[in-house]
Amino acid sequence: MVKQHRRLQVKLSESLKPLIPSKDLIFGRHFTDHMLTIEWNSKDGWSDPIIQPFGKISLEPSAMVFHYSFECFEGLKAYKDKNGKLRLFRPDMNMKRLNRSAARLTLPVSIIWDVIGGFSEDELLECLKKLIRLEERWVPAERGFSLYIRPTLIGTQASLGIGPNSRALLFIICSPAGPYYKTGFSAVKLLSTFENVRAWPGGTGDAKIGGNYSPCVRPQIEAAEKGYQQNLWLFGPDDEITEVGTMNCFVLLDNEYGETELVTPPLDGTILAGVTRDSILQLARTWNEFKVSERKITMSEVVNALKQGRLREMFGSGTACIVTPIKIINYRGEDLAVPLDPNDPSSNAGPVTRRISDTLMGIQYGEIPHEWSVVLN
Ligand SMILES: Cc1ncc(COP(=O)(O)O)c(C=O)c1O
Repeated sequence: MVKQHRRLQVKLSESLKPLIPSKDLIFGRHFTDHMLTIEWNSKDGWSDPIIQPFGKISLEPSAMVFHYSFECFEGLKAYKDKNGKLRLFRPDMNMKRLNRSAARLTLPVSIIWDVIGGFSEDELLECLKKLIRLEERWVPAERGFSLYIRPTLIGTQASLGIGPNSRALLFIICSPAGPYYKTGFSAVKLLSTFENVRAWPGGTGDAKIGGNYSPCVRPQIEAAEKGYQQNLWLFGPDDEITEVGTMNCFVLLDNEYGETELVTPPLDGTILAGVTRDSILQLARTWNEFKVSERKITMSEVVNALKQGRLREMFGSGTACIVTPIKIINYRGEDLAVPLDPNDPSSNAGPVTRRISDTLMGIQYGEIPHEWSVVLN
């Protein structure tokens, strides 16, 4: 099989942009000098990958992506460690998830790549690594800073008829990003959302597709207008906790049997399988200090635990923030105060939340040796 990444063509930009000073970085606003593009069509399969100057994409107004949201994407980061080495965090997980999301939308996936184009998740990852090495100067060196990487796959067939796409475009763009918390943690206030649901059984909540995100903006704005930073997505008649904004959700509590338990909702099709979520579960299981469960958890269980002094910590998890401590949940009109650190009233995060954040960040920046951190140079 031809190794597709060896056929990667590189067309360098004639003029490089000035770097953005770290203090001026706004998430997702500034982009590097180059992007990777790979075209696909159902007759010839995948074209050779090209790294080319970052620039506009030309599509027909009838392209299916504009009408029926044939779009899926990924989000991962490149880090620069203190020795100047570039690192990715579990990028294979993002490649696999991109494939799963693509499959849900009948966009080309690796099975087709293997048959037609000689492409695979590993090949795409090799192309991505070449792009990041080329953009090395854009990866900030300060701890907490990183280069955000956005692989995207869109259906480009020019047709208003709904059906599978005969053309697609995969591209990867990169954006330097600052730390989520500029000065230490900042615990968030959540507003429970009842009018809308993010996902439902048999839907697409477990796929990272653009169509899942645009309807979430309005509940987010409603939360912001009432003074809450994020919304808490509940589901079903017993108000199951699902996700927090665009993060997975974790609850640490002493359960009714007196055991300390870290709970996150199960991957039942309504939850996005977060890379951070999986990493937290694996770490916590290795620590073997408390029970770790993927199970349904309802608001009444959380409210009861809180009233009985058994709720310890809650946090959201995701690539952007690693973990976001939760301090307040507005549930049916009442602000519930979620504990942070009982030993330090001034703290903005509970001890387990903090330990998870420190450990993951240590791995990402190569301070804690771990197979999850993939060195690029
Ligand atoms: C809806 C949703 N849930 C959870 C996550 C967290 O996933 P990850 O840890 O892979 O960033 C994300 C971010 O990608 C998301 O968009």
